[in-house]
Amino acid sequence: NGSTLNMEQITAQLQNLGVSQIPTFPDVPLYPENNPIDIYRAFIIEQVHNITGAEPAVINNAVAWTQDLKHGDLVLPVPALRLKGKKPDELATEIAEKFECAALIEKPAAEKTFVRFFFKPGPLANLTLKYVLQKKMQYGFNSHLGLEDPTKPDSRRKKMIVEYSSPNIAKEFHTGHLRSTIIGGFMIKLYDAAGWDTTSMNYLGDWGKQYGMLSQGFEKYGSEGELKRDPIKHLNEVYVKINQDNAAEQTEAKKLAEKKDGLEKVKNPPKVKKPAKGKEAEAAPEHKWSEEQEKELQAAVKELEVVQEELVKRPSIDEKARQFFKRMVDGDKEALQYWQLFRDLSIDAYKKMYARLNIAFDDYSGESTVKVEDMEKAAQVLETKGISEDSKGAVIVDFAKHGAPKLGKTLIKKRDGTSLYLTRDVAANYERFERYHFDKMIYVVASQQDVHMAQFFKILQLMGSPYSDAVAKCEHVTFGMVKDPKGQTMSTRKGTVVSLADSLDAAKEFMHDVMRKNEDKYKQVEKPEATADTLAISAIMVQDYAGKMVNGYSFDMDRMTSFEGDTGPYLQYSHARICSMERKADVPHAQLLAADFGLITAKEGVELVRSLAQWPDVFLNTYKTREPVTVLTYMFKMTHLLSSCYDAKDAGNRNAKTMSVMYAESAEKRASLMALYDCARQVLANGMRLLGLTPVERM
Ligand code: ARG
Repeated sequence: NGSTLNMEQITAQLQNLGVSQIPTFPDVPLYPENNPIDIYRAFIIEQVHNITGAEPAVINNAVAWTQDLKHGDLVLPVPALRLKGKKPDELATEIAEKFECAALIEKPAAEKTFVRFFFKPGPLANLTLKYVLQKKMQYGFNSHLGLEDPTKPDSRRKKMIVEYSSPNIAKEFHTGHLRSTIIGGFMIKLYDAAGWDTTSMNYLGDWGKQYGMLSQGFEKYGSEGELKRDPIKHLNEVYVKINQDNAAEQTEAKKLAEKKDGLEKVKNPPKVKKPAKGKEAEAAPEHKWSEEQEKELQAAVKELEVVQEELVKRPSIDEKARQFFKRMVDGDKEALQYWQLFRDLSIDAYKKMYARLNIAFDDYSGESTVKVEDMEKAAQVLETKGISEDSKGAVIVDFAKHGAPKLGKTLIKKRDGTSLYLTRDVAANYERFERYHFDKMIYVVASQQDVHMAQFFKILQLMGSPYSDAVAKCEHVTFGMVKDPKGQTMSTRKGTVVSLADSLDAAKEFMHDVMRKNEDKYKQVEKPEATADTLAISAIMVQDYAGKMVNGYSFDMDRMTSFEGDTGPYLQYSHARICSMERKADVPHAQLLAADFGLITAKEGVELVRSLAQWPDVFLNTYKTREPVTVLTYMFKMTHLLSSCYDAKDAGNRNAKTMSVMYAESAEKRASLMALYDCARQVLANGMRLLGLTPVERM
């Protein structure tokens, strides 16, 4: 587990290097106890301030990390100092010349208007690796960020709600829900690591006419046994069947109506217009029926009448569903029994699936939990403020009248008085604000619902306080669609994807097969099934994180489960490989901590150290971008540097692997190398956990 860093040791080490105190600045939040790079920042700020007179906060904002280590560990773009008078390139040269921090930083180089800082390898390794070895699971994270006042460690933790996943019971758990689940899970982990007080919320689609459909379907096709065994699948099957029946019923009714129309037209041909004066009247086309035809016609008309009558007498599936839902709304116990059973069983099944994805919800809310009185209250506000209006008995909002013509019009209340998805969202937002007093709430919802989300937020804004106060703290995190490898959208109906559990199982089987191919290794894996599952889920998640959230991607089983390329299994392999090395080398942790990291001199090793030192800054940047790809890009860069270390050759002896723990020339070297690899493993594990992956030790 994570322990706290011994800052005294760090200070002592700095003193050995001839550095007495880490400078501090009242208005610059630096966290040297979390982030080794902040020690360097402090010295850079001090020096640049002394040389140029620029404000420390301005310098801190200007100093940036680099995309590629060959451009330096940190870089100062001089124009960002916003100093008047001197030309930026001249100032850059002046800063580079006067800069003095010999203990930690090489003499900087000016390049046009940039000053590039390269950290001295020995001290950097000695500092950074101590951070990793001591902070372990905590390395890189910064729990000050979620504080009301980040400079005061005892100030209040801010409250964050992330609403995500939110599937609809009985309808399919489609890839949109999967993506929301993966991204939302990441958001929660990110804000947890930043010290926010978070709540994971699932807002189930558990209310509406579909329950009326579902209960009819269950009576006709349902089985208690199947329901208990796999509620999600069974309810979906039942739901699909009853919808098919409903559709068939409607087509049938339509066909009959058309037939009737047709027959009537034949029987009573349209009247011919009166001929204009002076012209010969055109004779209406005459229908000559044989007696037989006439009989047939009469029979058909009779049959039609019977069916039509029947249709009127017997309510359609659709109508029955409406009535059933009305009973639920009115609190009819019998009607609600089904609903409760379906909901409870579905939640149990969801929980199992979520656990596979390292996700647990604090709150299963849902559309059913929104109080009628809160919807009424909102409706009142909308009406009295003149935001909504009557439209043929229904209530609508016309956004054009409120300065947002792009949002069109939307229905707020149906003619029969029942609420809608949007109405429920409005009231639910208010309820959450009352209950949690959140500082921020994020909705992770697919881009197909961008318009819905914009309408819903706009309505809250128009409603004024307290609704507008709440929505000011809300944000919609949107994301692109998942397609199949042919670029088609995936859906149960098309049979391209059955359910989340099925996709997870398919990926798991695939991984299991891959693992079985290496018999020796396979025998050593304690729980091969569980490992295969973990690998499969890593594959799915990493594929999801590989681009920006707004971009869609295609679900490609072959590509994502590959051990080559930037995939989940590759990250897992990198992690497991170090674990295996550690088992073989068996160096006690105390020896790792005491190692002399100055012995890491090969350029591959130095690069890896520099990369590991960046991790706290990468976390900080991820907190800003909130894009999982920020973490992932770093992790792949780092693992590539790691794998170059395995092959690093000694400059003097091209056959010797200079960074091999097994063949290290001394116990000291061995300890320092093992420590370096252990730190890489730790950073990998921390990044993977932040992304929701479970690092495996054997595979
Ligand atoms: N249940 C909805 C669906 O599957 C998503 C809910 C999104 N969240 C919200 N507050 N509207 O389409």
